[in-house]
Amino acid sequence: MIVLGIESSCDETAAAVVRDGRMLLSNVIASQVDVHARYGGVVPEIASRKHIEAIAPVILQALVDAGLTLDEIEGVAVTRGPGLIGSLLVGLSAAKALSYVRGLPLVGVNHLEGHVAAIFLTDSPPPAFPFIALVVSGGHTTIYMVEDFHRFGILGQTRDDAAGEAFDKAAKLLEIGYPGGVMIDRLAEQGNRTAFAFPRAMRDGLDFSFSGLKTSLLMRLRKRGAPFSPEELPDVAASYQEAIVEVLVDKTLRAAVEHSVPRIVICGGVAANTRLRERFREEAVRFDIDFFVPPPILCTDNAGMIAVVGEHLLNEGCRDGLDLNAVSRWPLSR
Ligand code: KG4
Ligand code: ZN
Repeated sequence: MIVLGIESSCDETAAAVVRDGRMLLSNVIASQVDVHARYGGVVPEIASRKHIEAIAPVILQALVDAGLTLDEIEGVAVTRGPGLIGSLLVGLSAAKALSYVRGLPLVGVNHLEGHVAAIFLTDSPPPAFPFIALVVSGGHTTIYMVEDFHRFGILGQTRDDAAGEAFDKAAKLLEIGYPGGVMIDRLAEQGNRTAFAFPRAMRDGLDFSFSGLKTSLLMRLRKRGAPFSPEELPDVAASYQEAIVEVLVDKTLRAAVEHSVPRIVICGGVAANTRLRERFREEAVRFDIDFFVPPPILCTDNAGMIAVVGEHLLNEGCRDGLDLNAVSRWPLSR
């Protein structure tokens, strides 16, 4: 089956064509990073308007890149939520219009199930079910037991900020630019990871908490009464990043060991982080666990991952009508 995926939940307008839930024929992503950079974060109203400008050209480009026309598309999958309502509605409206005009089956997809499904788009053999998935993005930090494409059980989740938020808020405090995760990742490459002591919230079982970490950076800045020097910044970035990475790796491994599931997938924007990938690879070898991570471009928001879930839903006979609506928060199961 050839499925067109559409994703517009936050600040990336994306469309992709996927064959048989495995082969990525095209993957177009129009990022709004430059637009939101001056505000230091995503401005929802601006994001919606930018999606409106980008959605049609992005979909057309996805078809061109795949070397296909709409005649060859057999289904349309679109992110339904969670996300920014105005942003989601743009993708949904485009998907509904295409479905209606071309008589194509339409299905709404959970963005988080999409992030996990990105692992099925890589060249290497995908993990067998069940596996442990760490979804780590700007809005979520959750460990799931993934039994099937849409059978997820929550093993642990953040009690306050998401890991991506911890990166983004720190970058804002440090005034090192946007998007925060990418900036800290880059700066940290030249930094000393043990130069500054930042707290690790290791208690609370498999749940996470990152608000204390952010506060500790804020308190440090207040106490100094001056910003960090350019020489100090790489060390701060590396030490702060290490505090996030250590907790993510520790708790996800603990989940795999406690539940006797020796397969871990990490996904979502923060899974693009160089140090996180490196630490997971090292620990997976030590614990004899199979570790899977999509390439960075499939960790951050994309529509290929939405098409993968859509393909499975369509094959199972799921169909959504033109009354399909956006949801800002969505429990995991349909
Ligand atoms: O999955 P995503 O693109 O959008 C959401 O669904 O939230 O994730 C965006 C998040 C942002 O917080 C961003 O700072 C973070 O992923 N991120 C990174 C890196 N690239 C993106 N965090 C750390 N290191 C990176 N290289
Ligand atoms: Zn996402």
